[in-house]
Amino acid sequence: MQETFIIAIDGPAASGKGTLGRRLAKELGLPHLDTGLTYRAVAHALLSADEPLDNEKIAIDAASRVDLGKLDRAVLSEHNIGSAASKVAAMSGVRRALVELQRQFALTPPGAILDGRDIGTVVCPDAAVKFYVTASTRERARRRWNEMQLRGQDADFEDILADIAARDARDMGREDSPLKPAENAHLLDTSQMDIETAFQQALRIVMQARTG
Ligand code: C5P
Repeated sequence: MQETFIIAIDGPAASGKGTLGRRLAKELGLPHLDTGLTYRAVAHALLSADEPLDNEKIAIDAASRVDLGKLDRAVLSEHNIGSAASKVAAMSGVRRALVELQRQFALTPPGAILDGRDIGTVVCPDAAVKFYVTASTRERARRRWNEMQLRGQDADFEDILADIAARDARDMGREDSPLKPAENAHLLDTSQMDIETAFQQALRIVMQARTG
């Protein structure tokens, strides 16, 4: 195995990339970073301080204070923080600060698994294996809606669907590091595939890359 082995997983909201990343990390014994949490941490800091989401200077300042050891998934996974995160994520200064942290994490031996929107294209273009995980917009909205029901949160399906579509458009349409598959990414469409099947497929590809 090379000194650092990096797996890049990209894809839109609720595609299953985070679950896949966590499963692979457990199986392979590699550290995992959900980079969406770093953008969410910036959005959460601004929302909590009643700061606007469109002031780049204030957002960069919040980004410079993000600590990878203090990302609280339970707090940050709120649906509305995800939408706010995609607004601050369009700012180049915010991205510069967070990408730097993410690269340091990835490049520390023995390597890592990172999931996000620009891992294979920008953060770790030399990753040993790249995946692009996707699913239909309806299926992703259904998953998000289910998650919210399980947490006892009342949510309107059509609102979630519209939100996810708006977030995709923002993430794919921004100038800096738009969401798109890296050229050499393996595509995994999970619309009709459960996470176990996706995991087994991904694991086979990783094992081939490790031995090849
Ligand atoms: O993946 P998650 O839904 O937690 O991401 C929240 C938002 O953070 C995304 O909608 C996207 O705008 C931004 N993001 C990004 N680049 C990443 C990870 C997340 O722009 N690598």
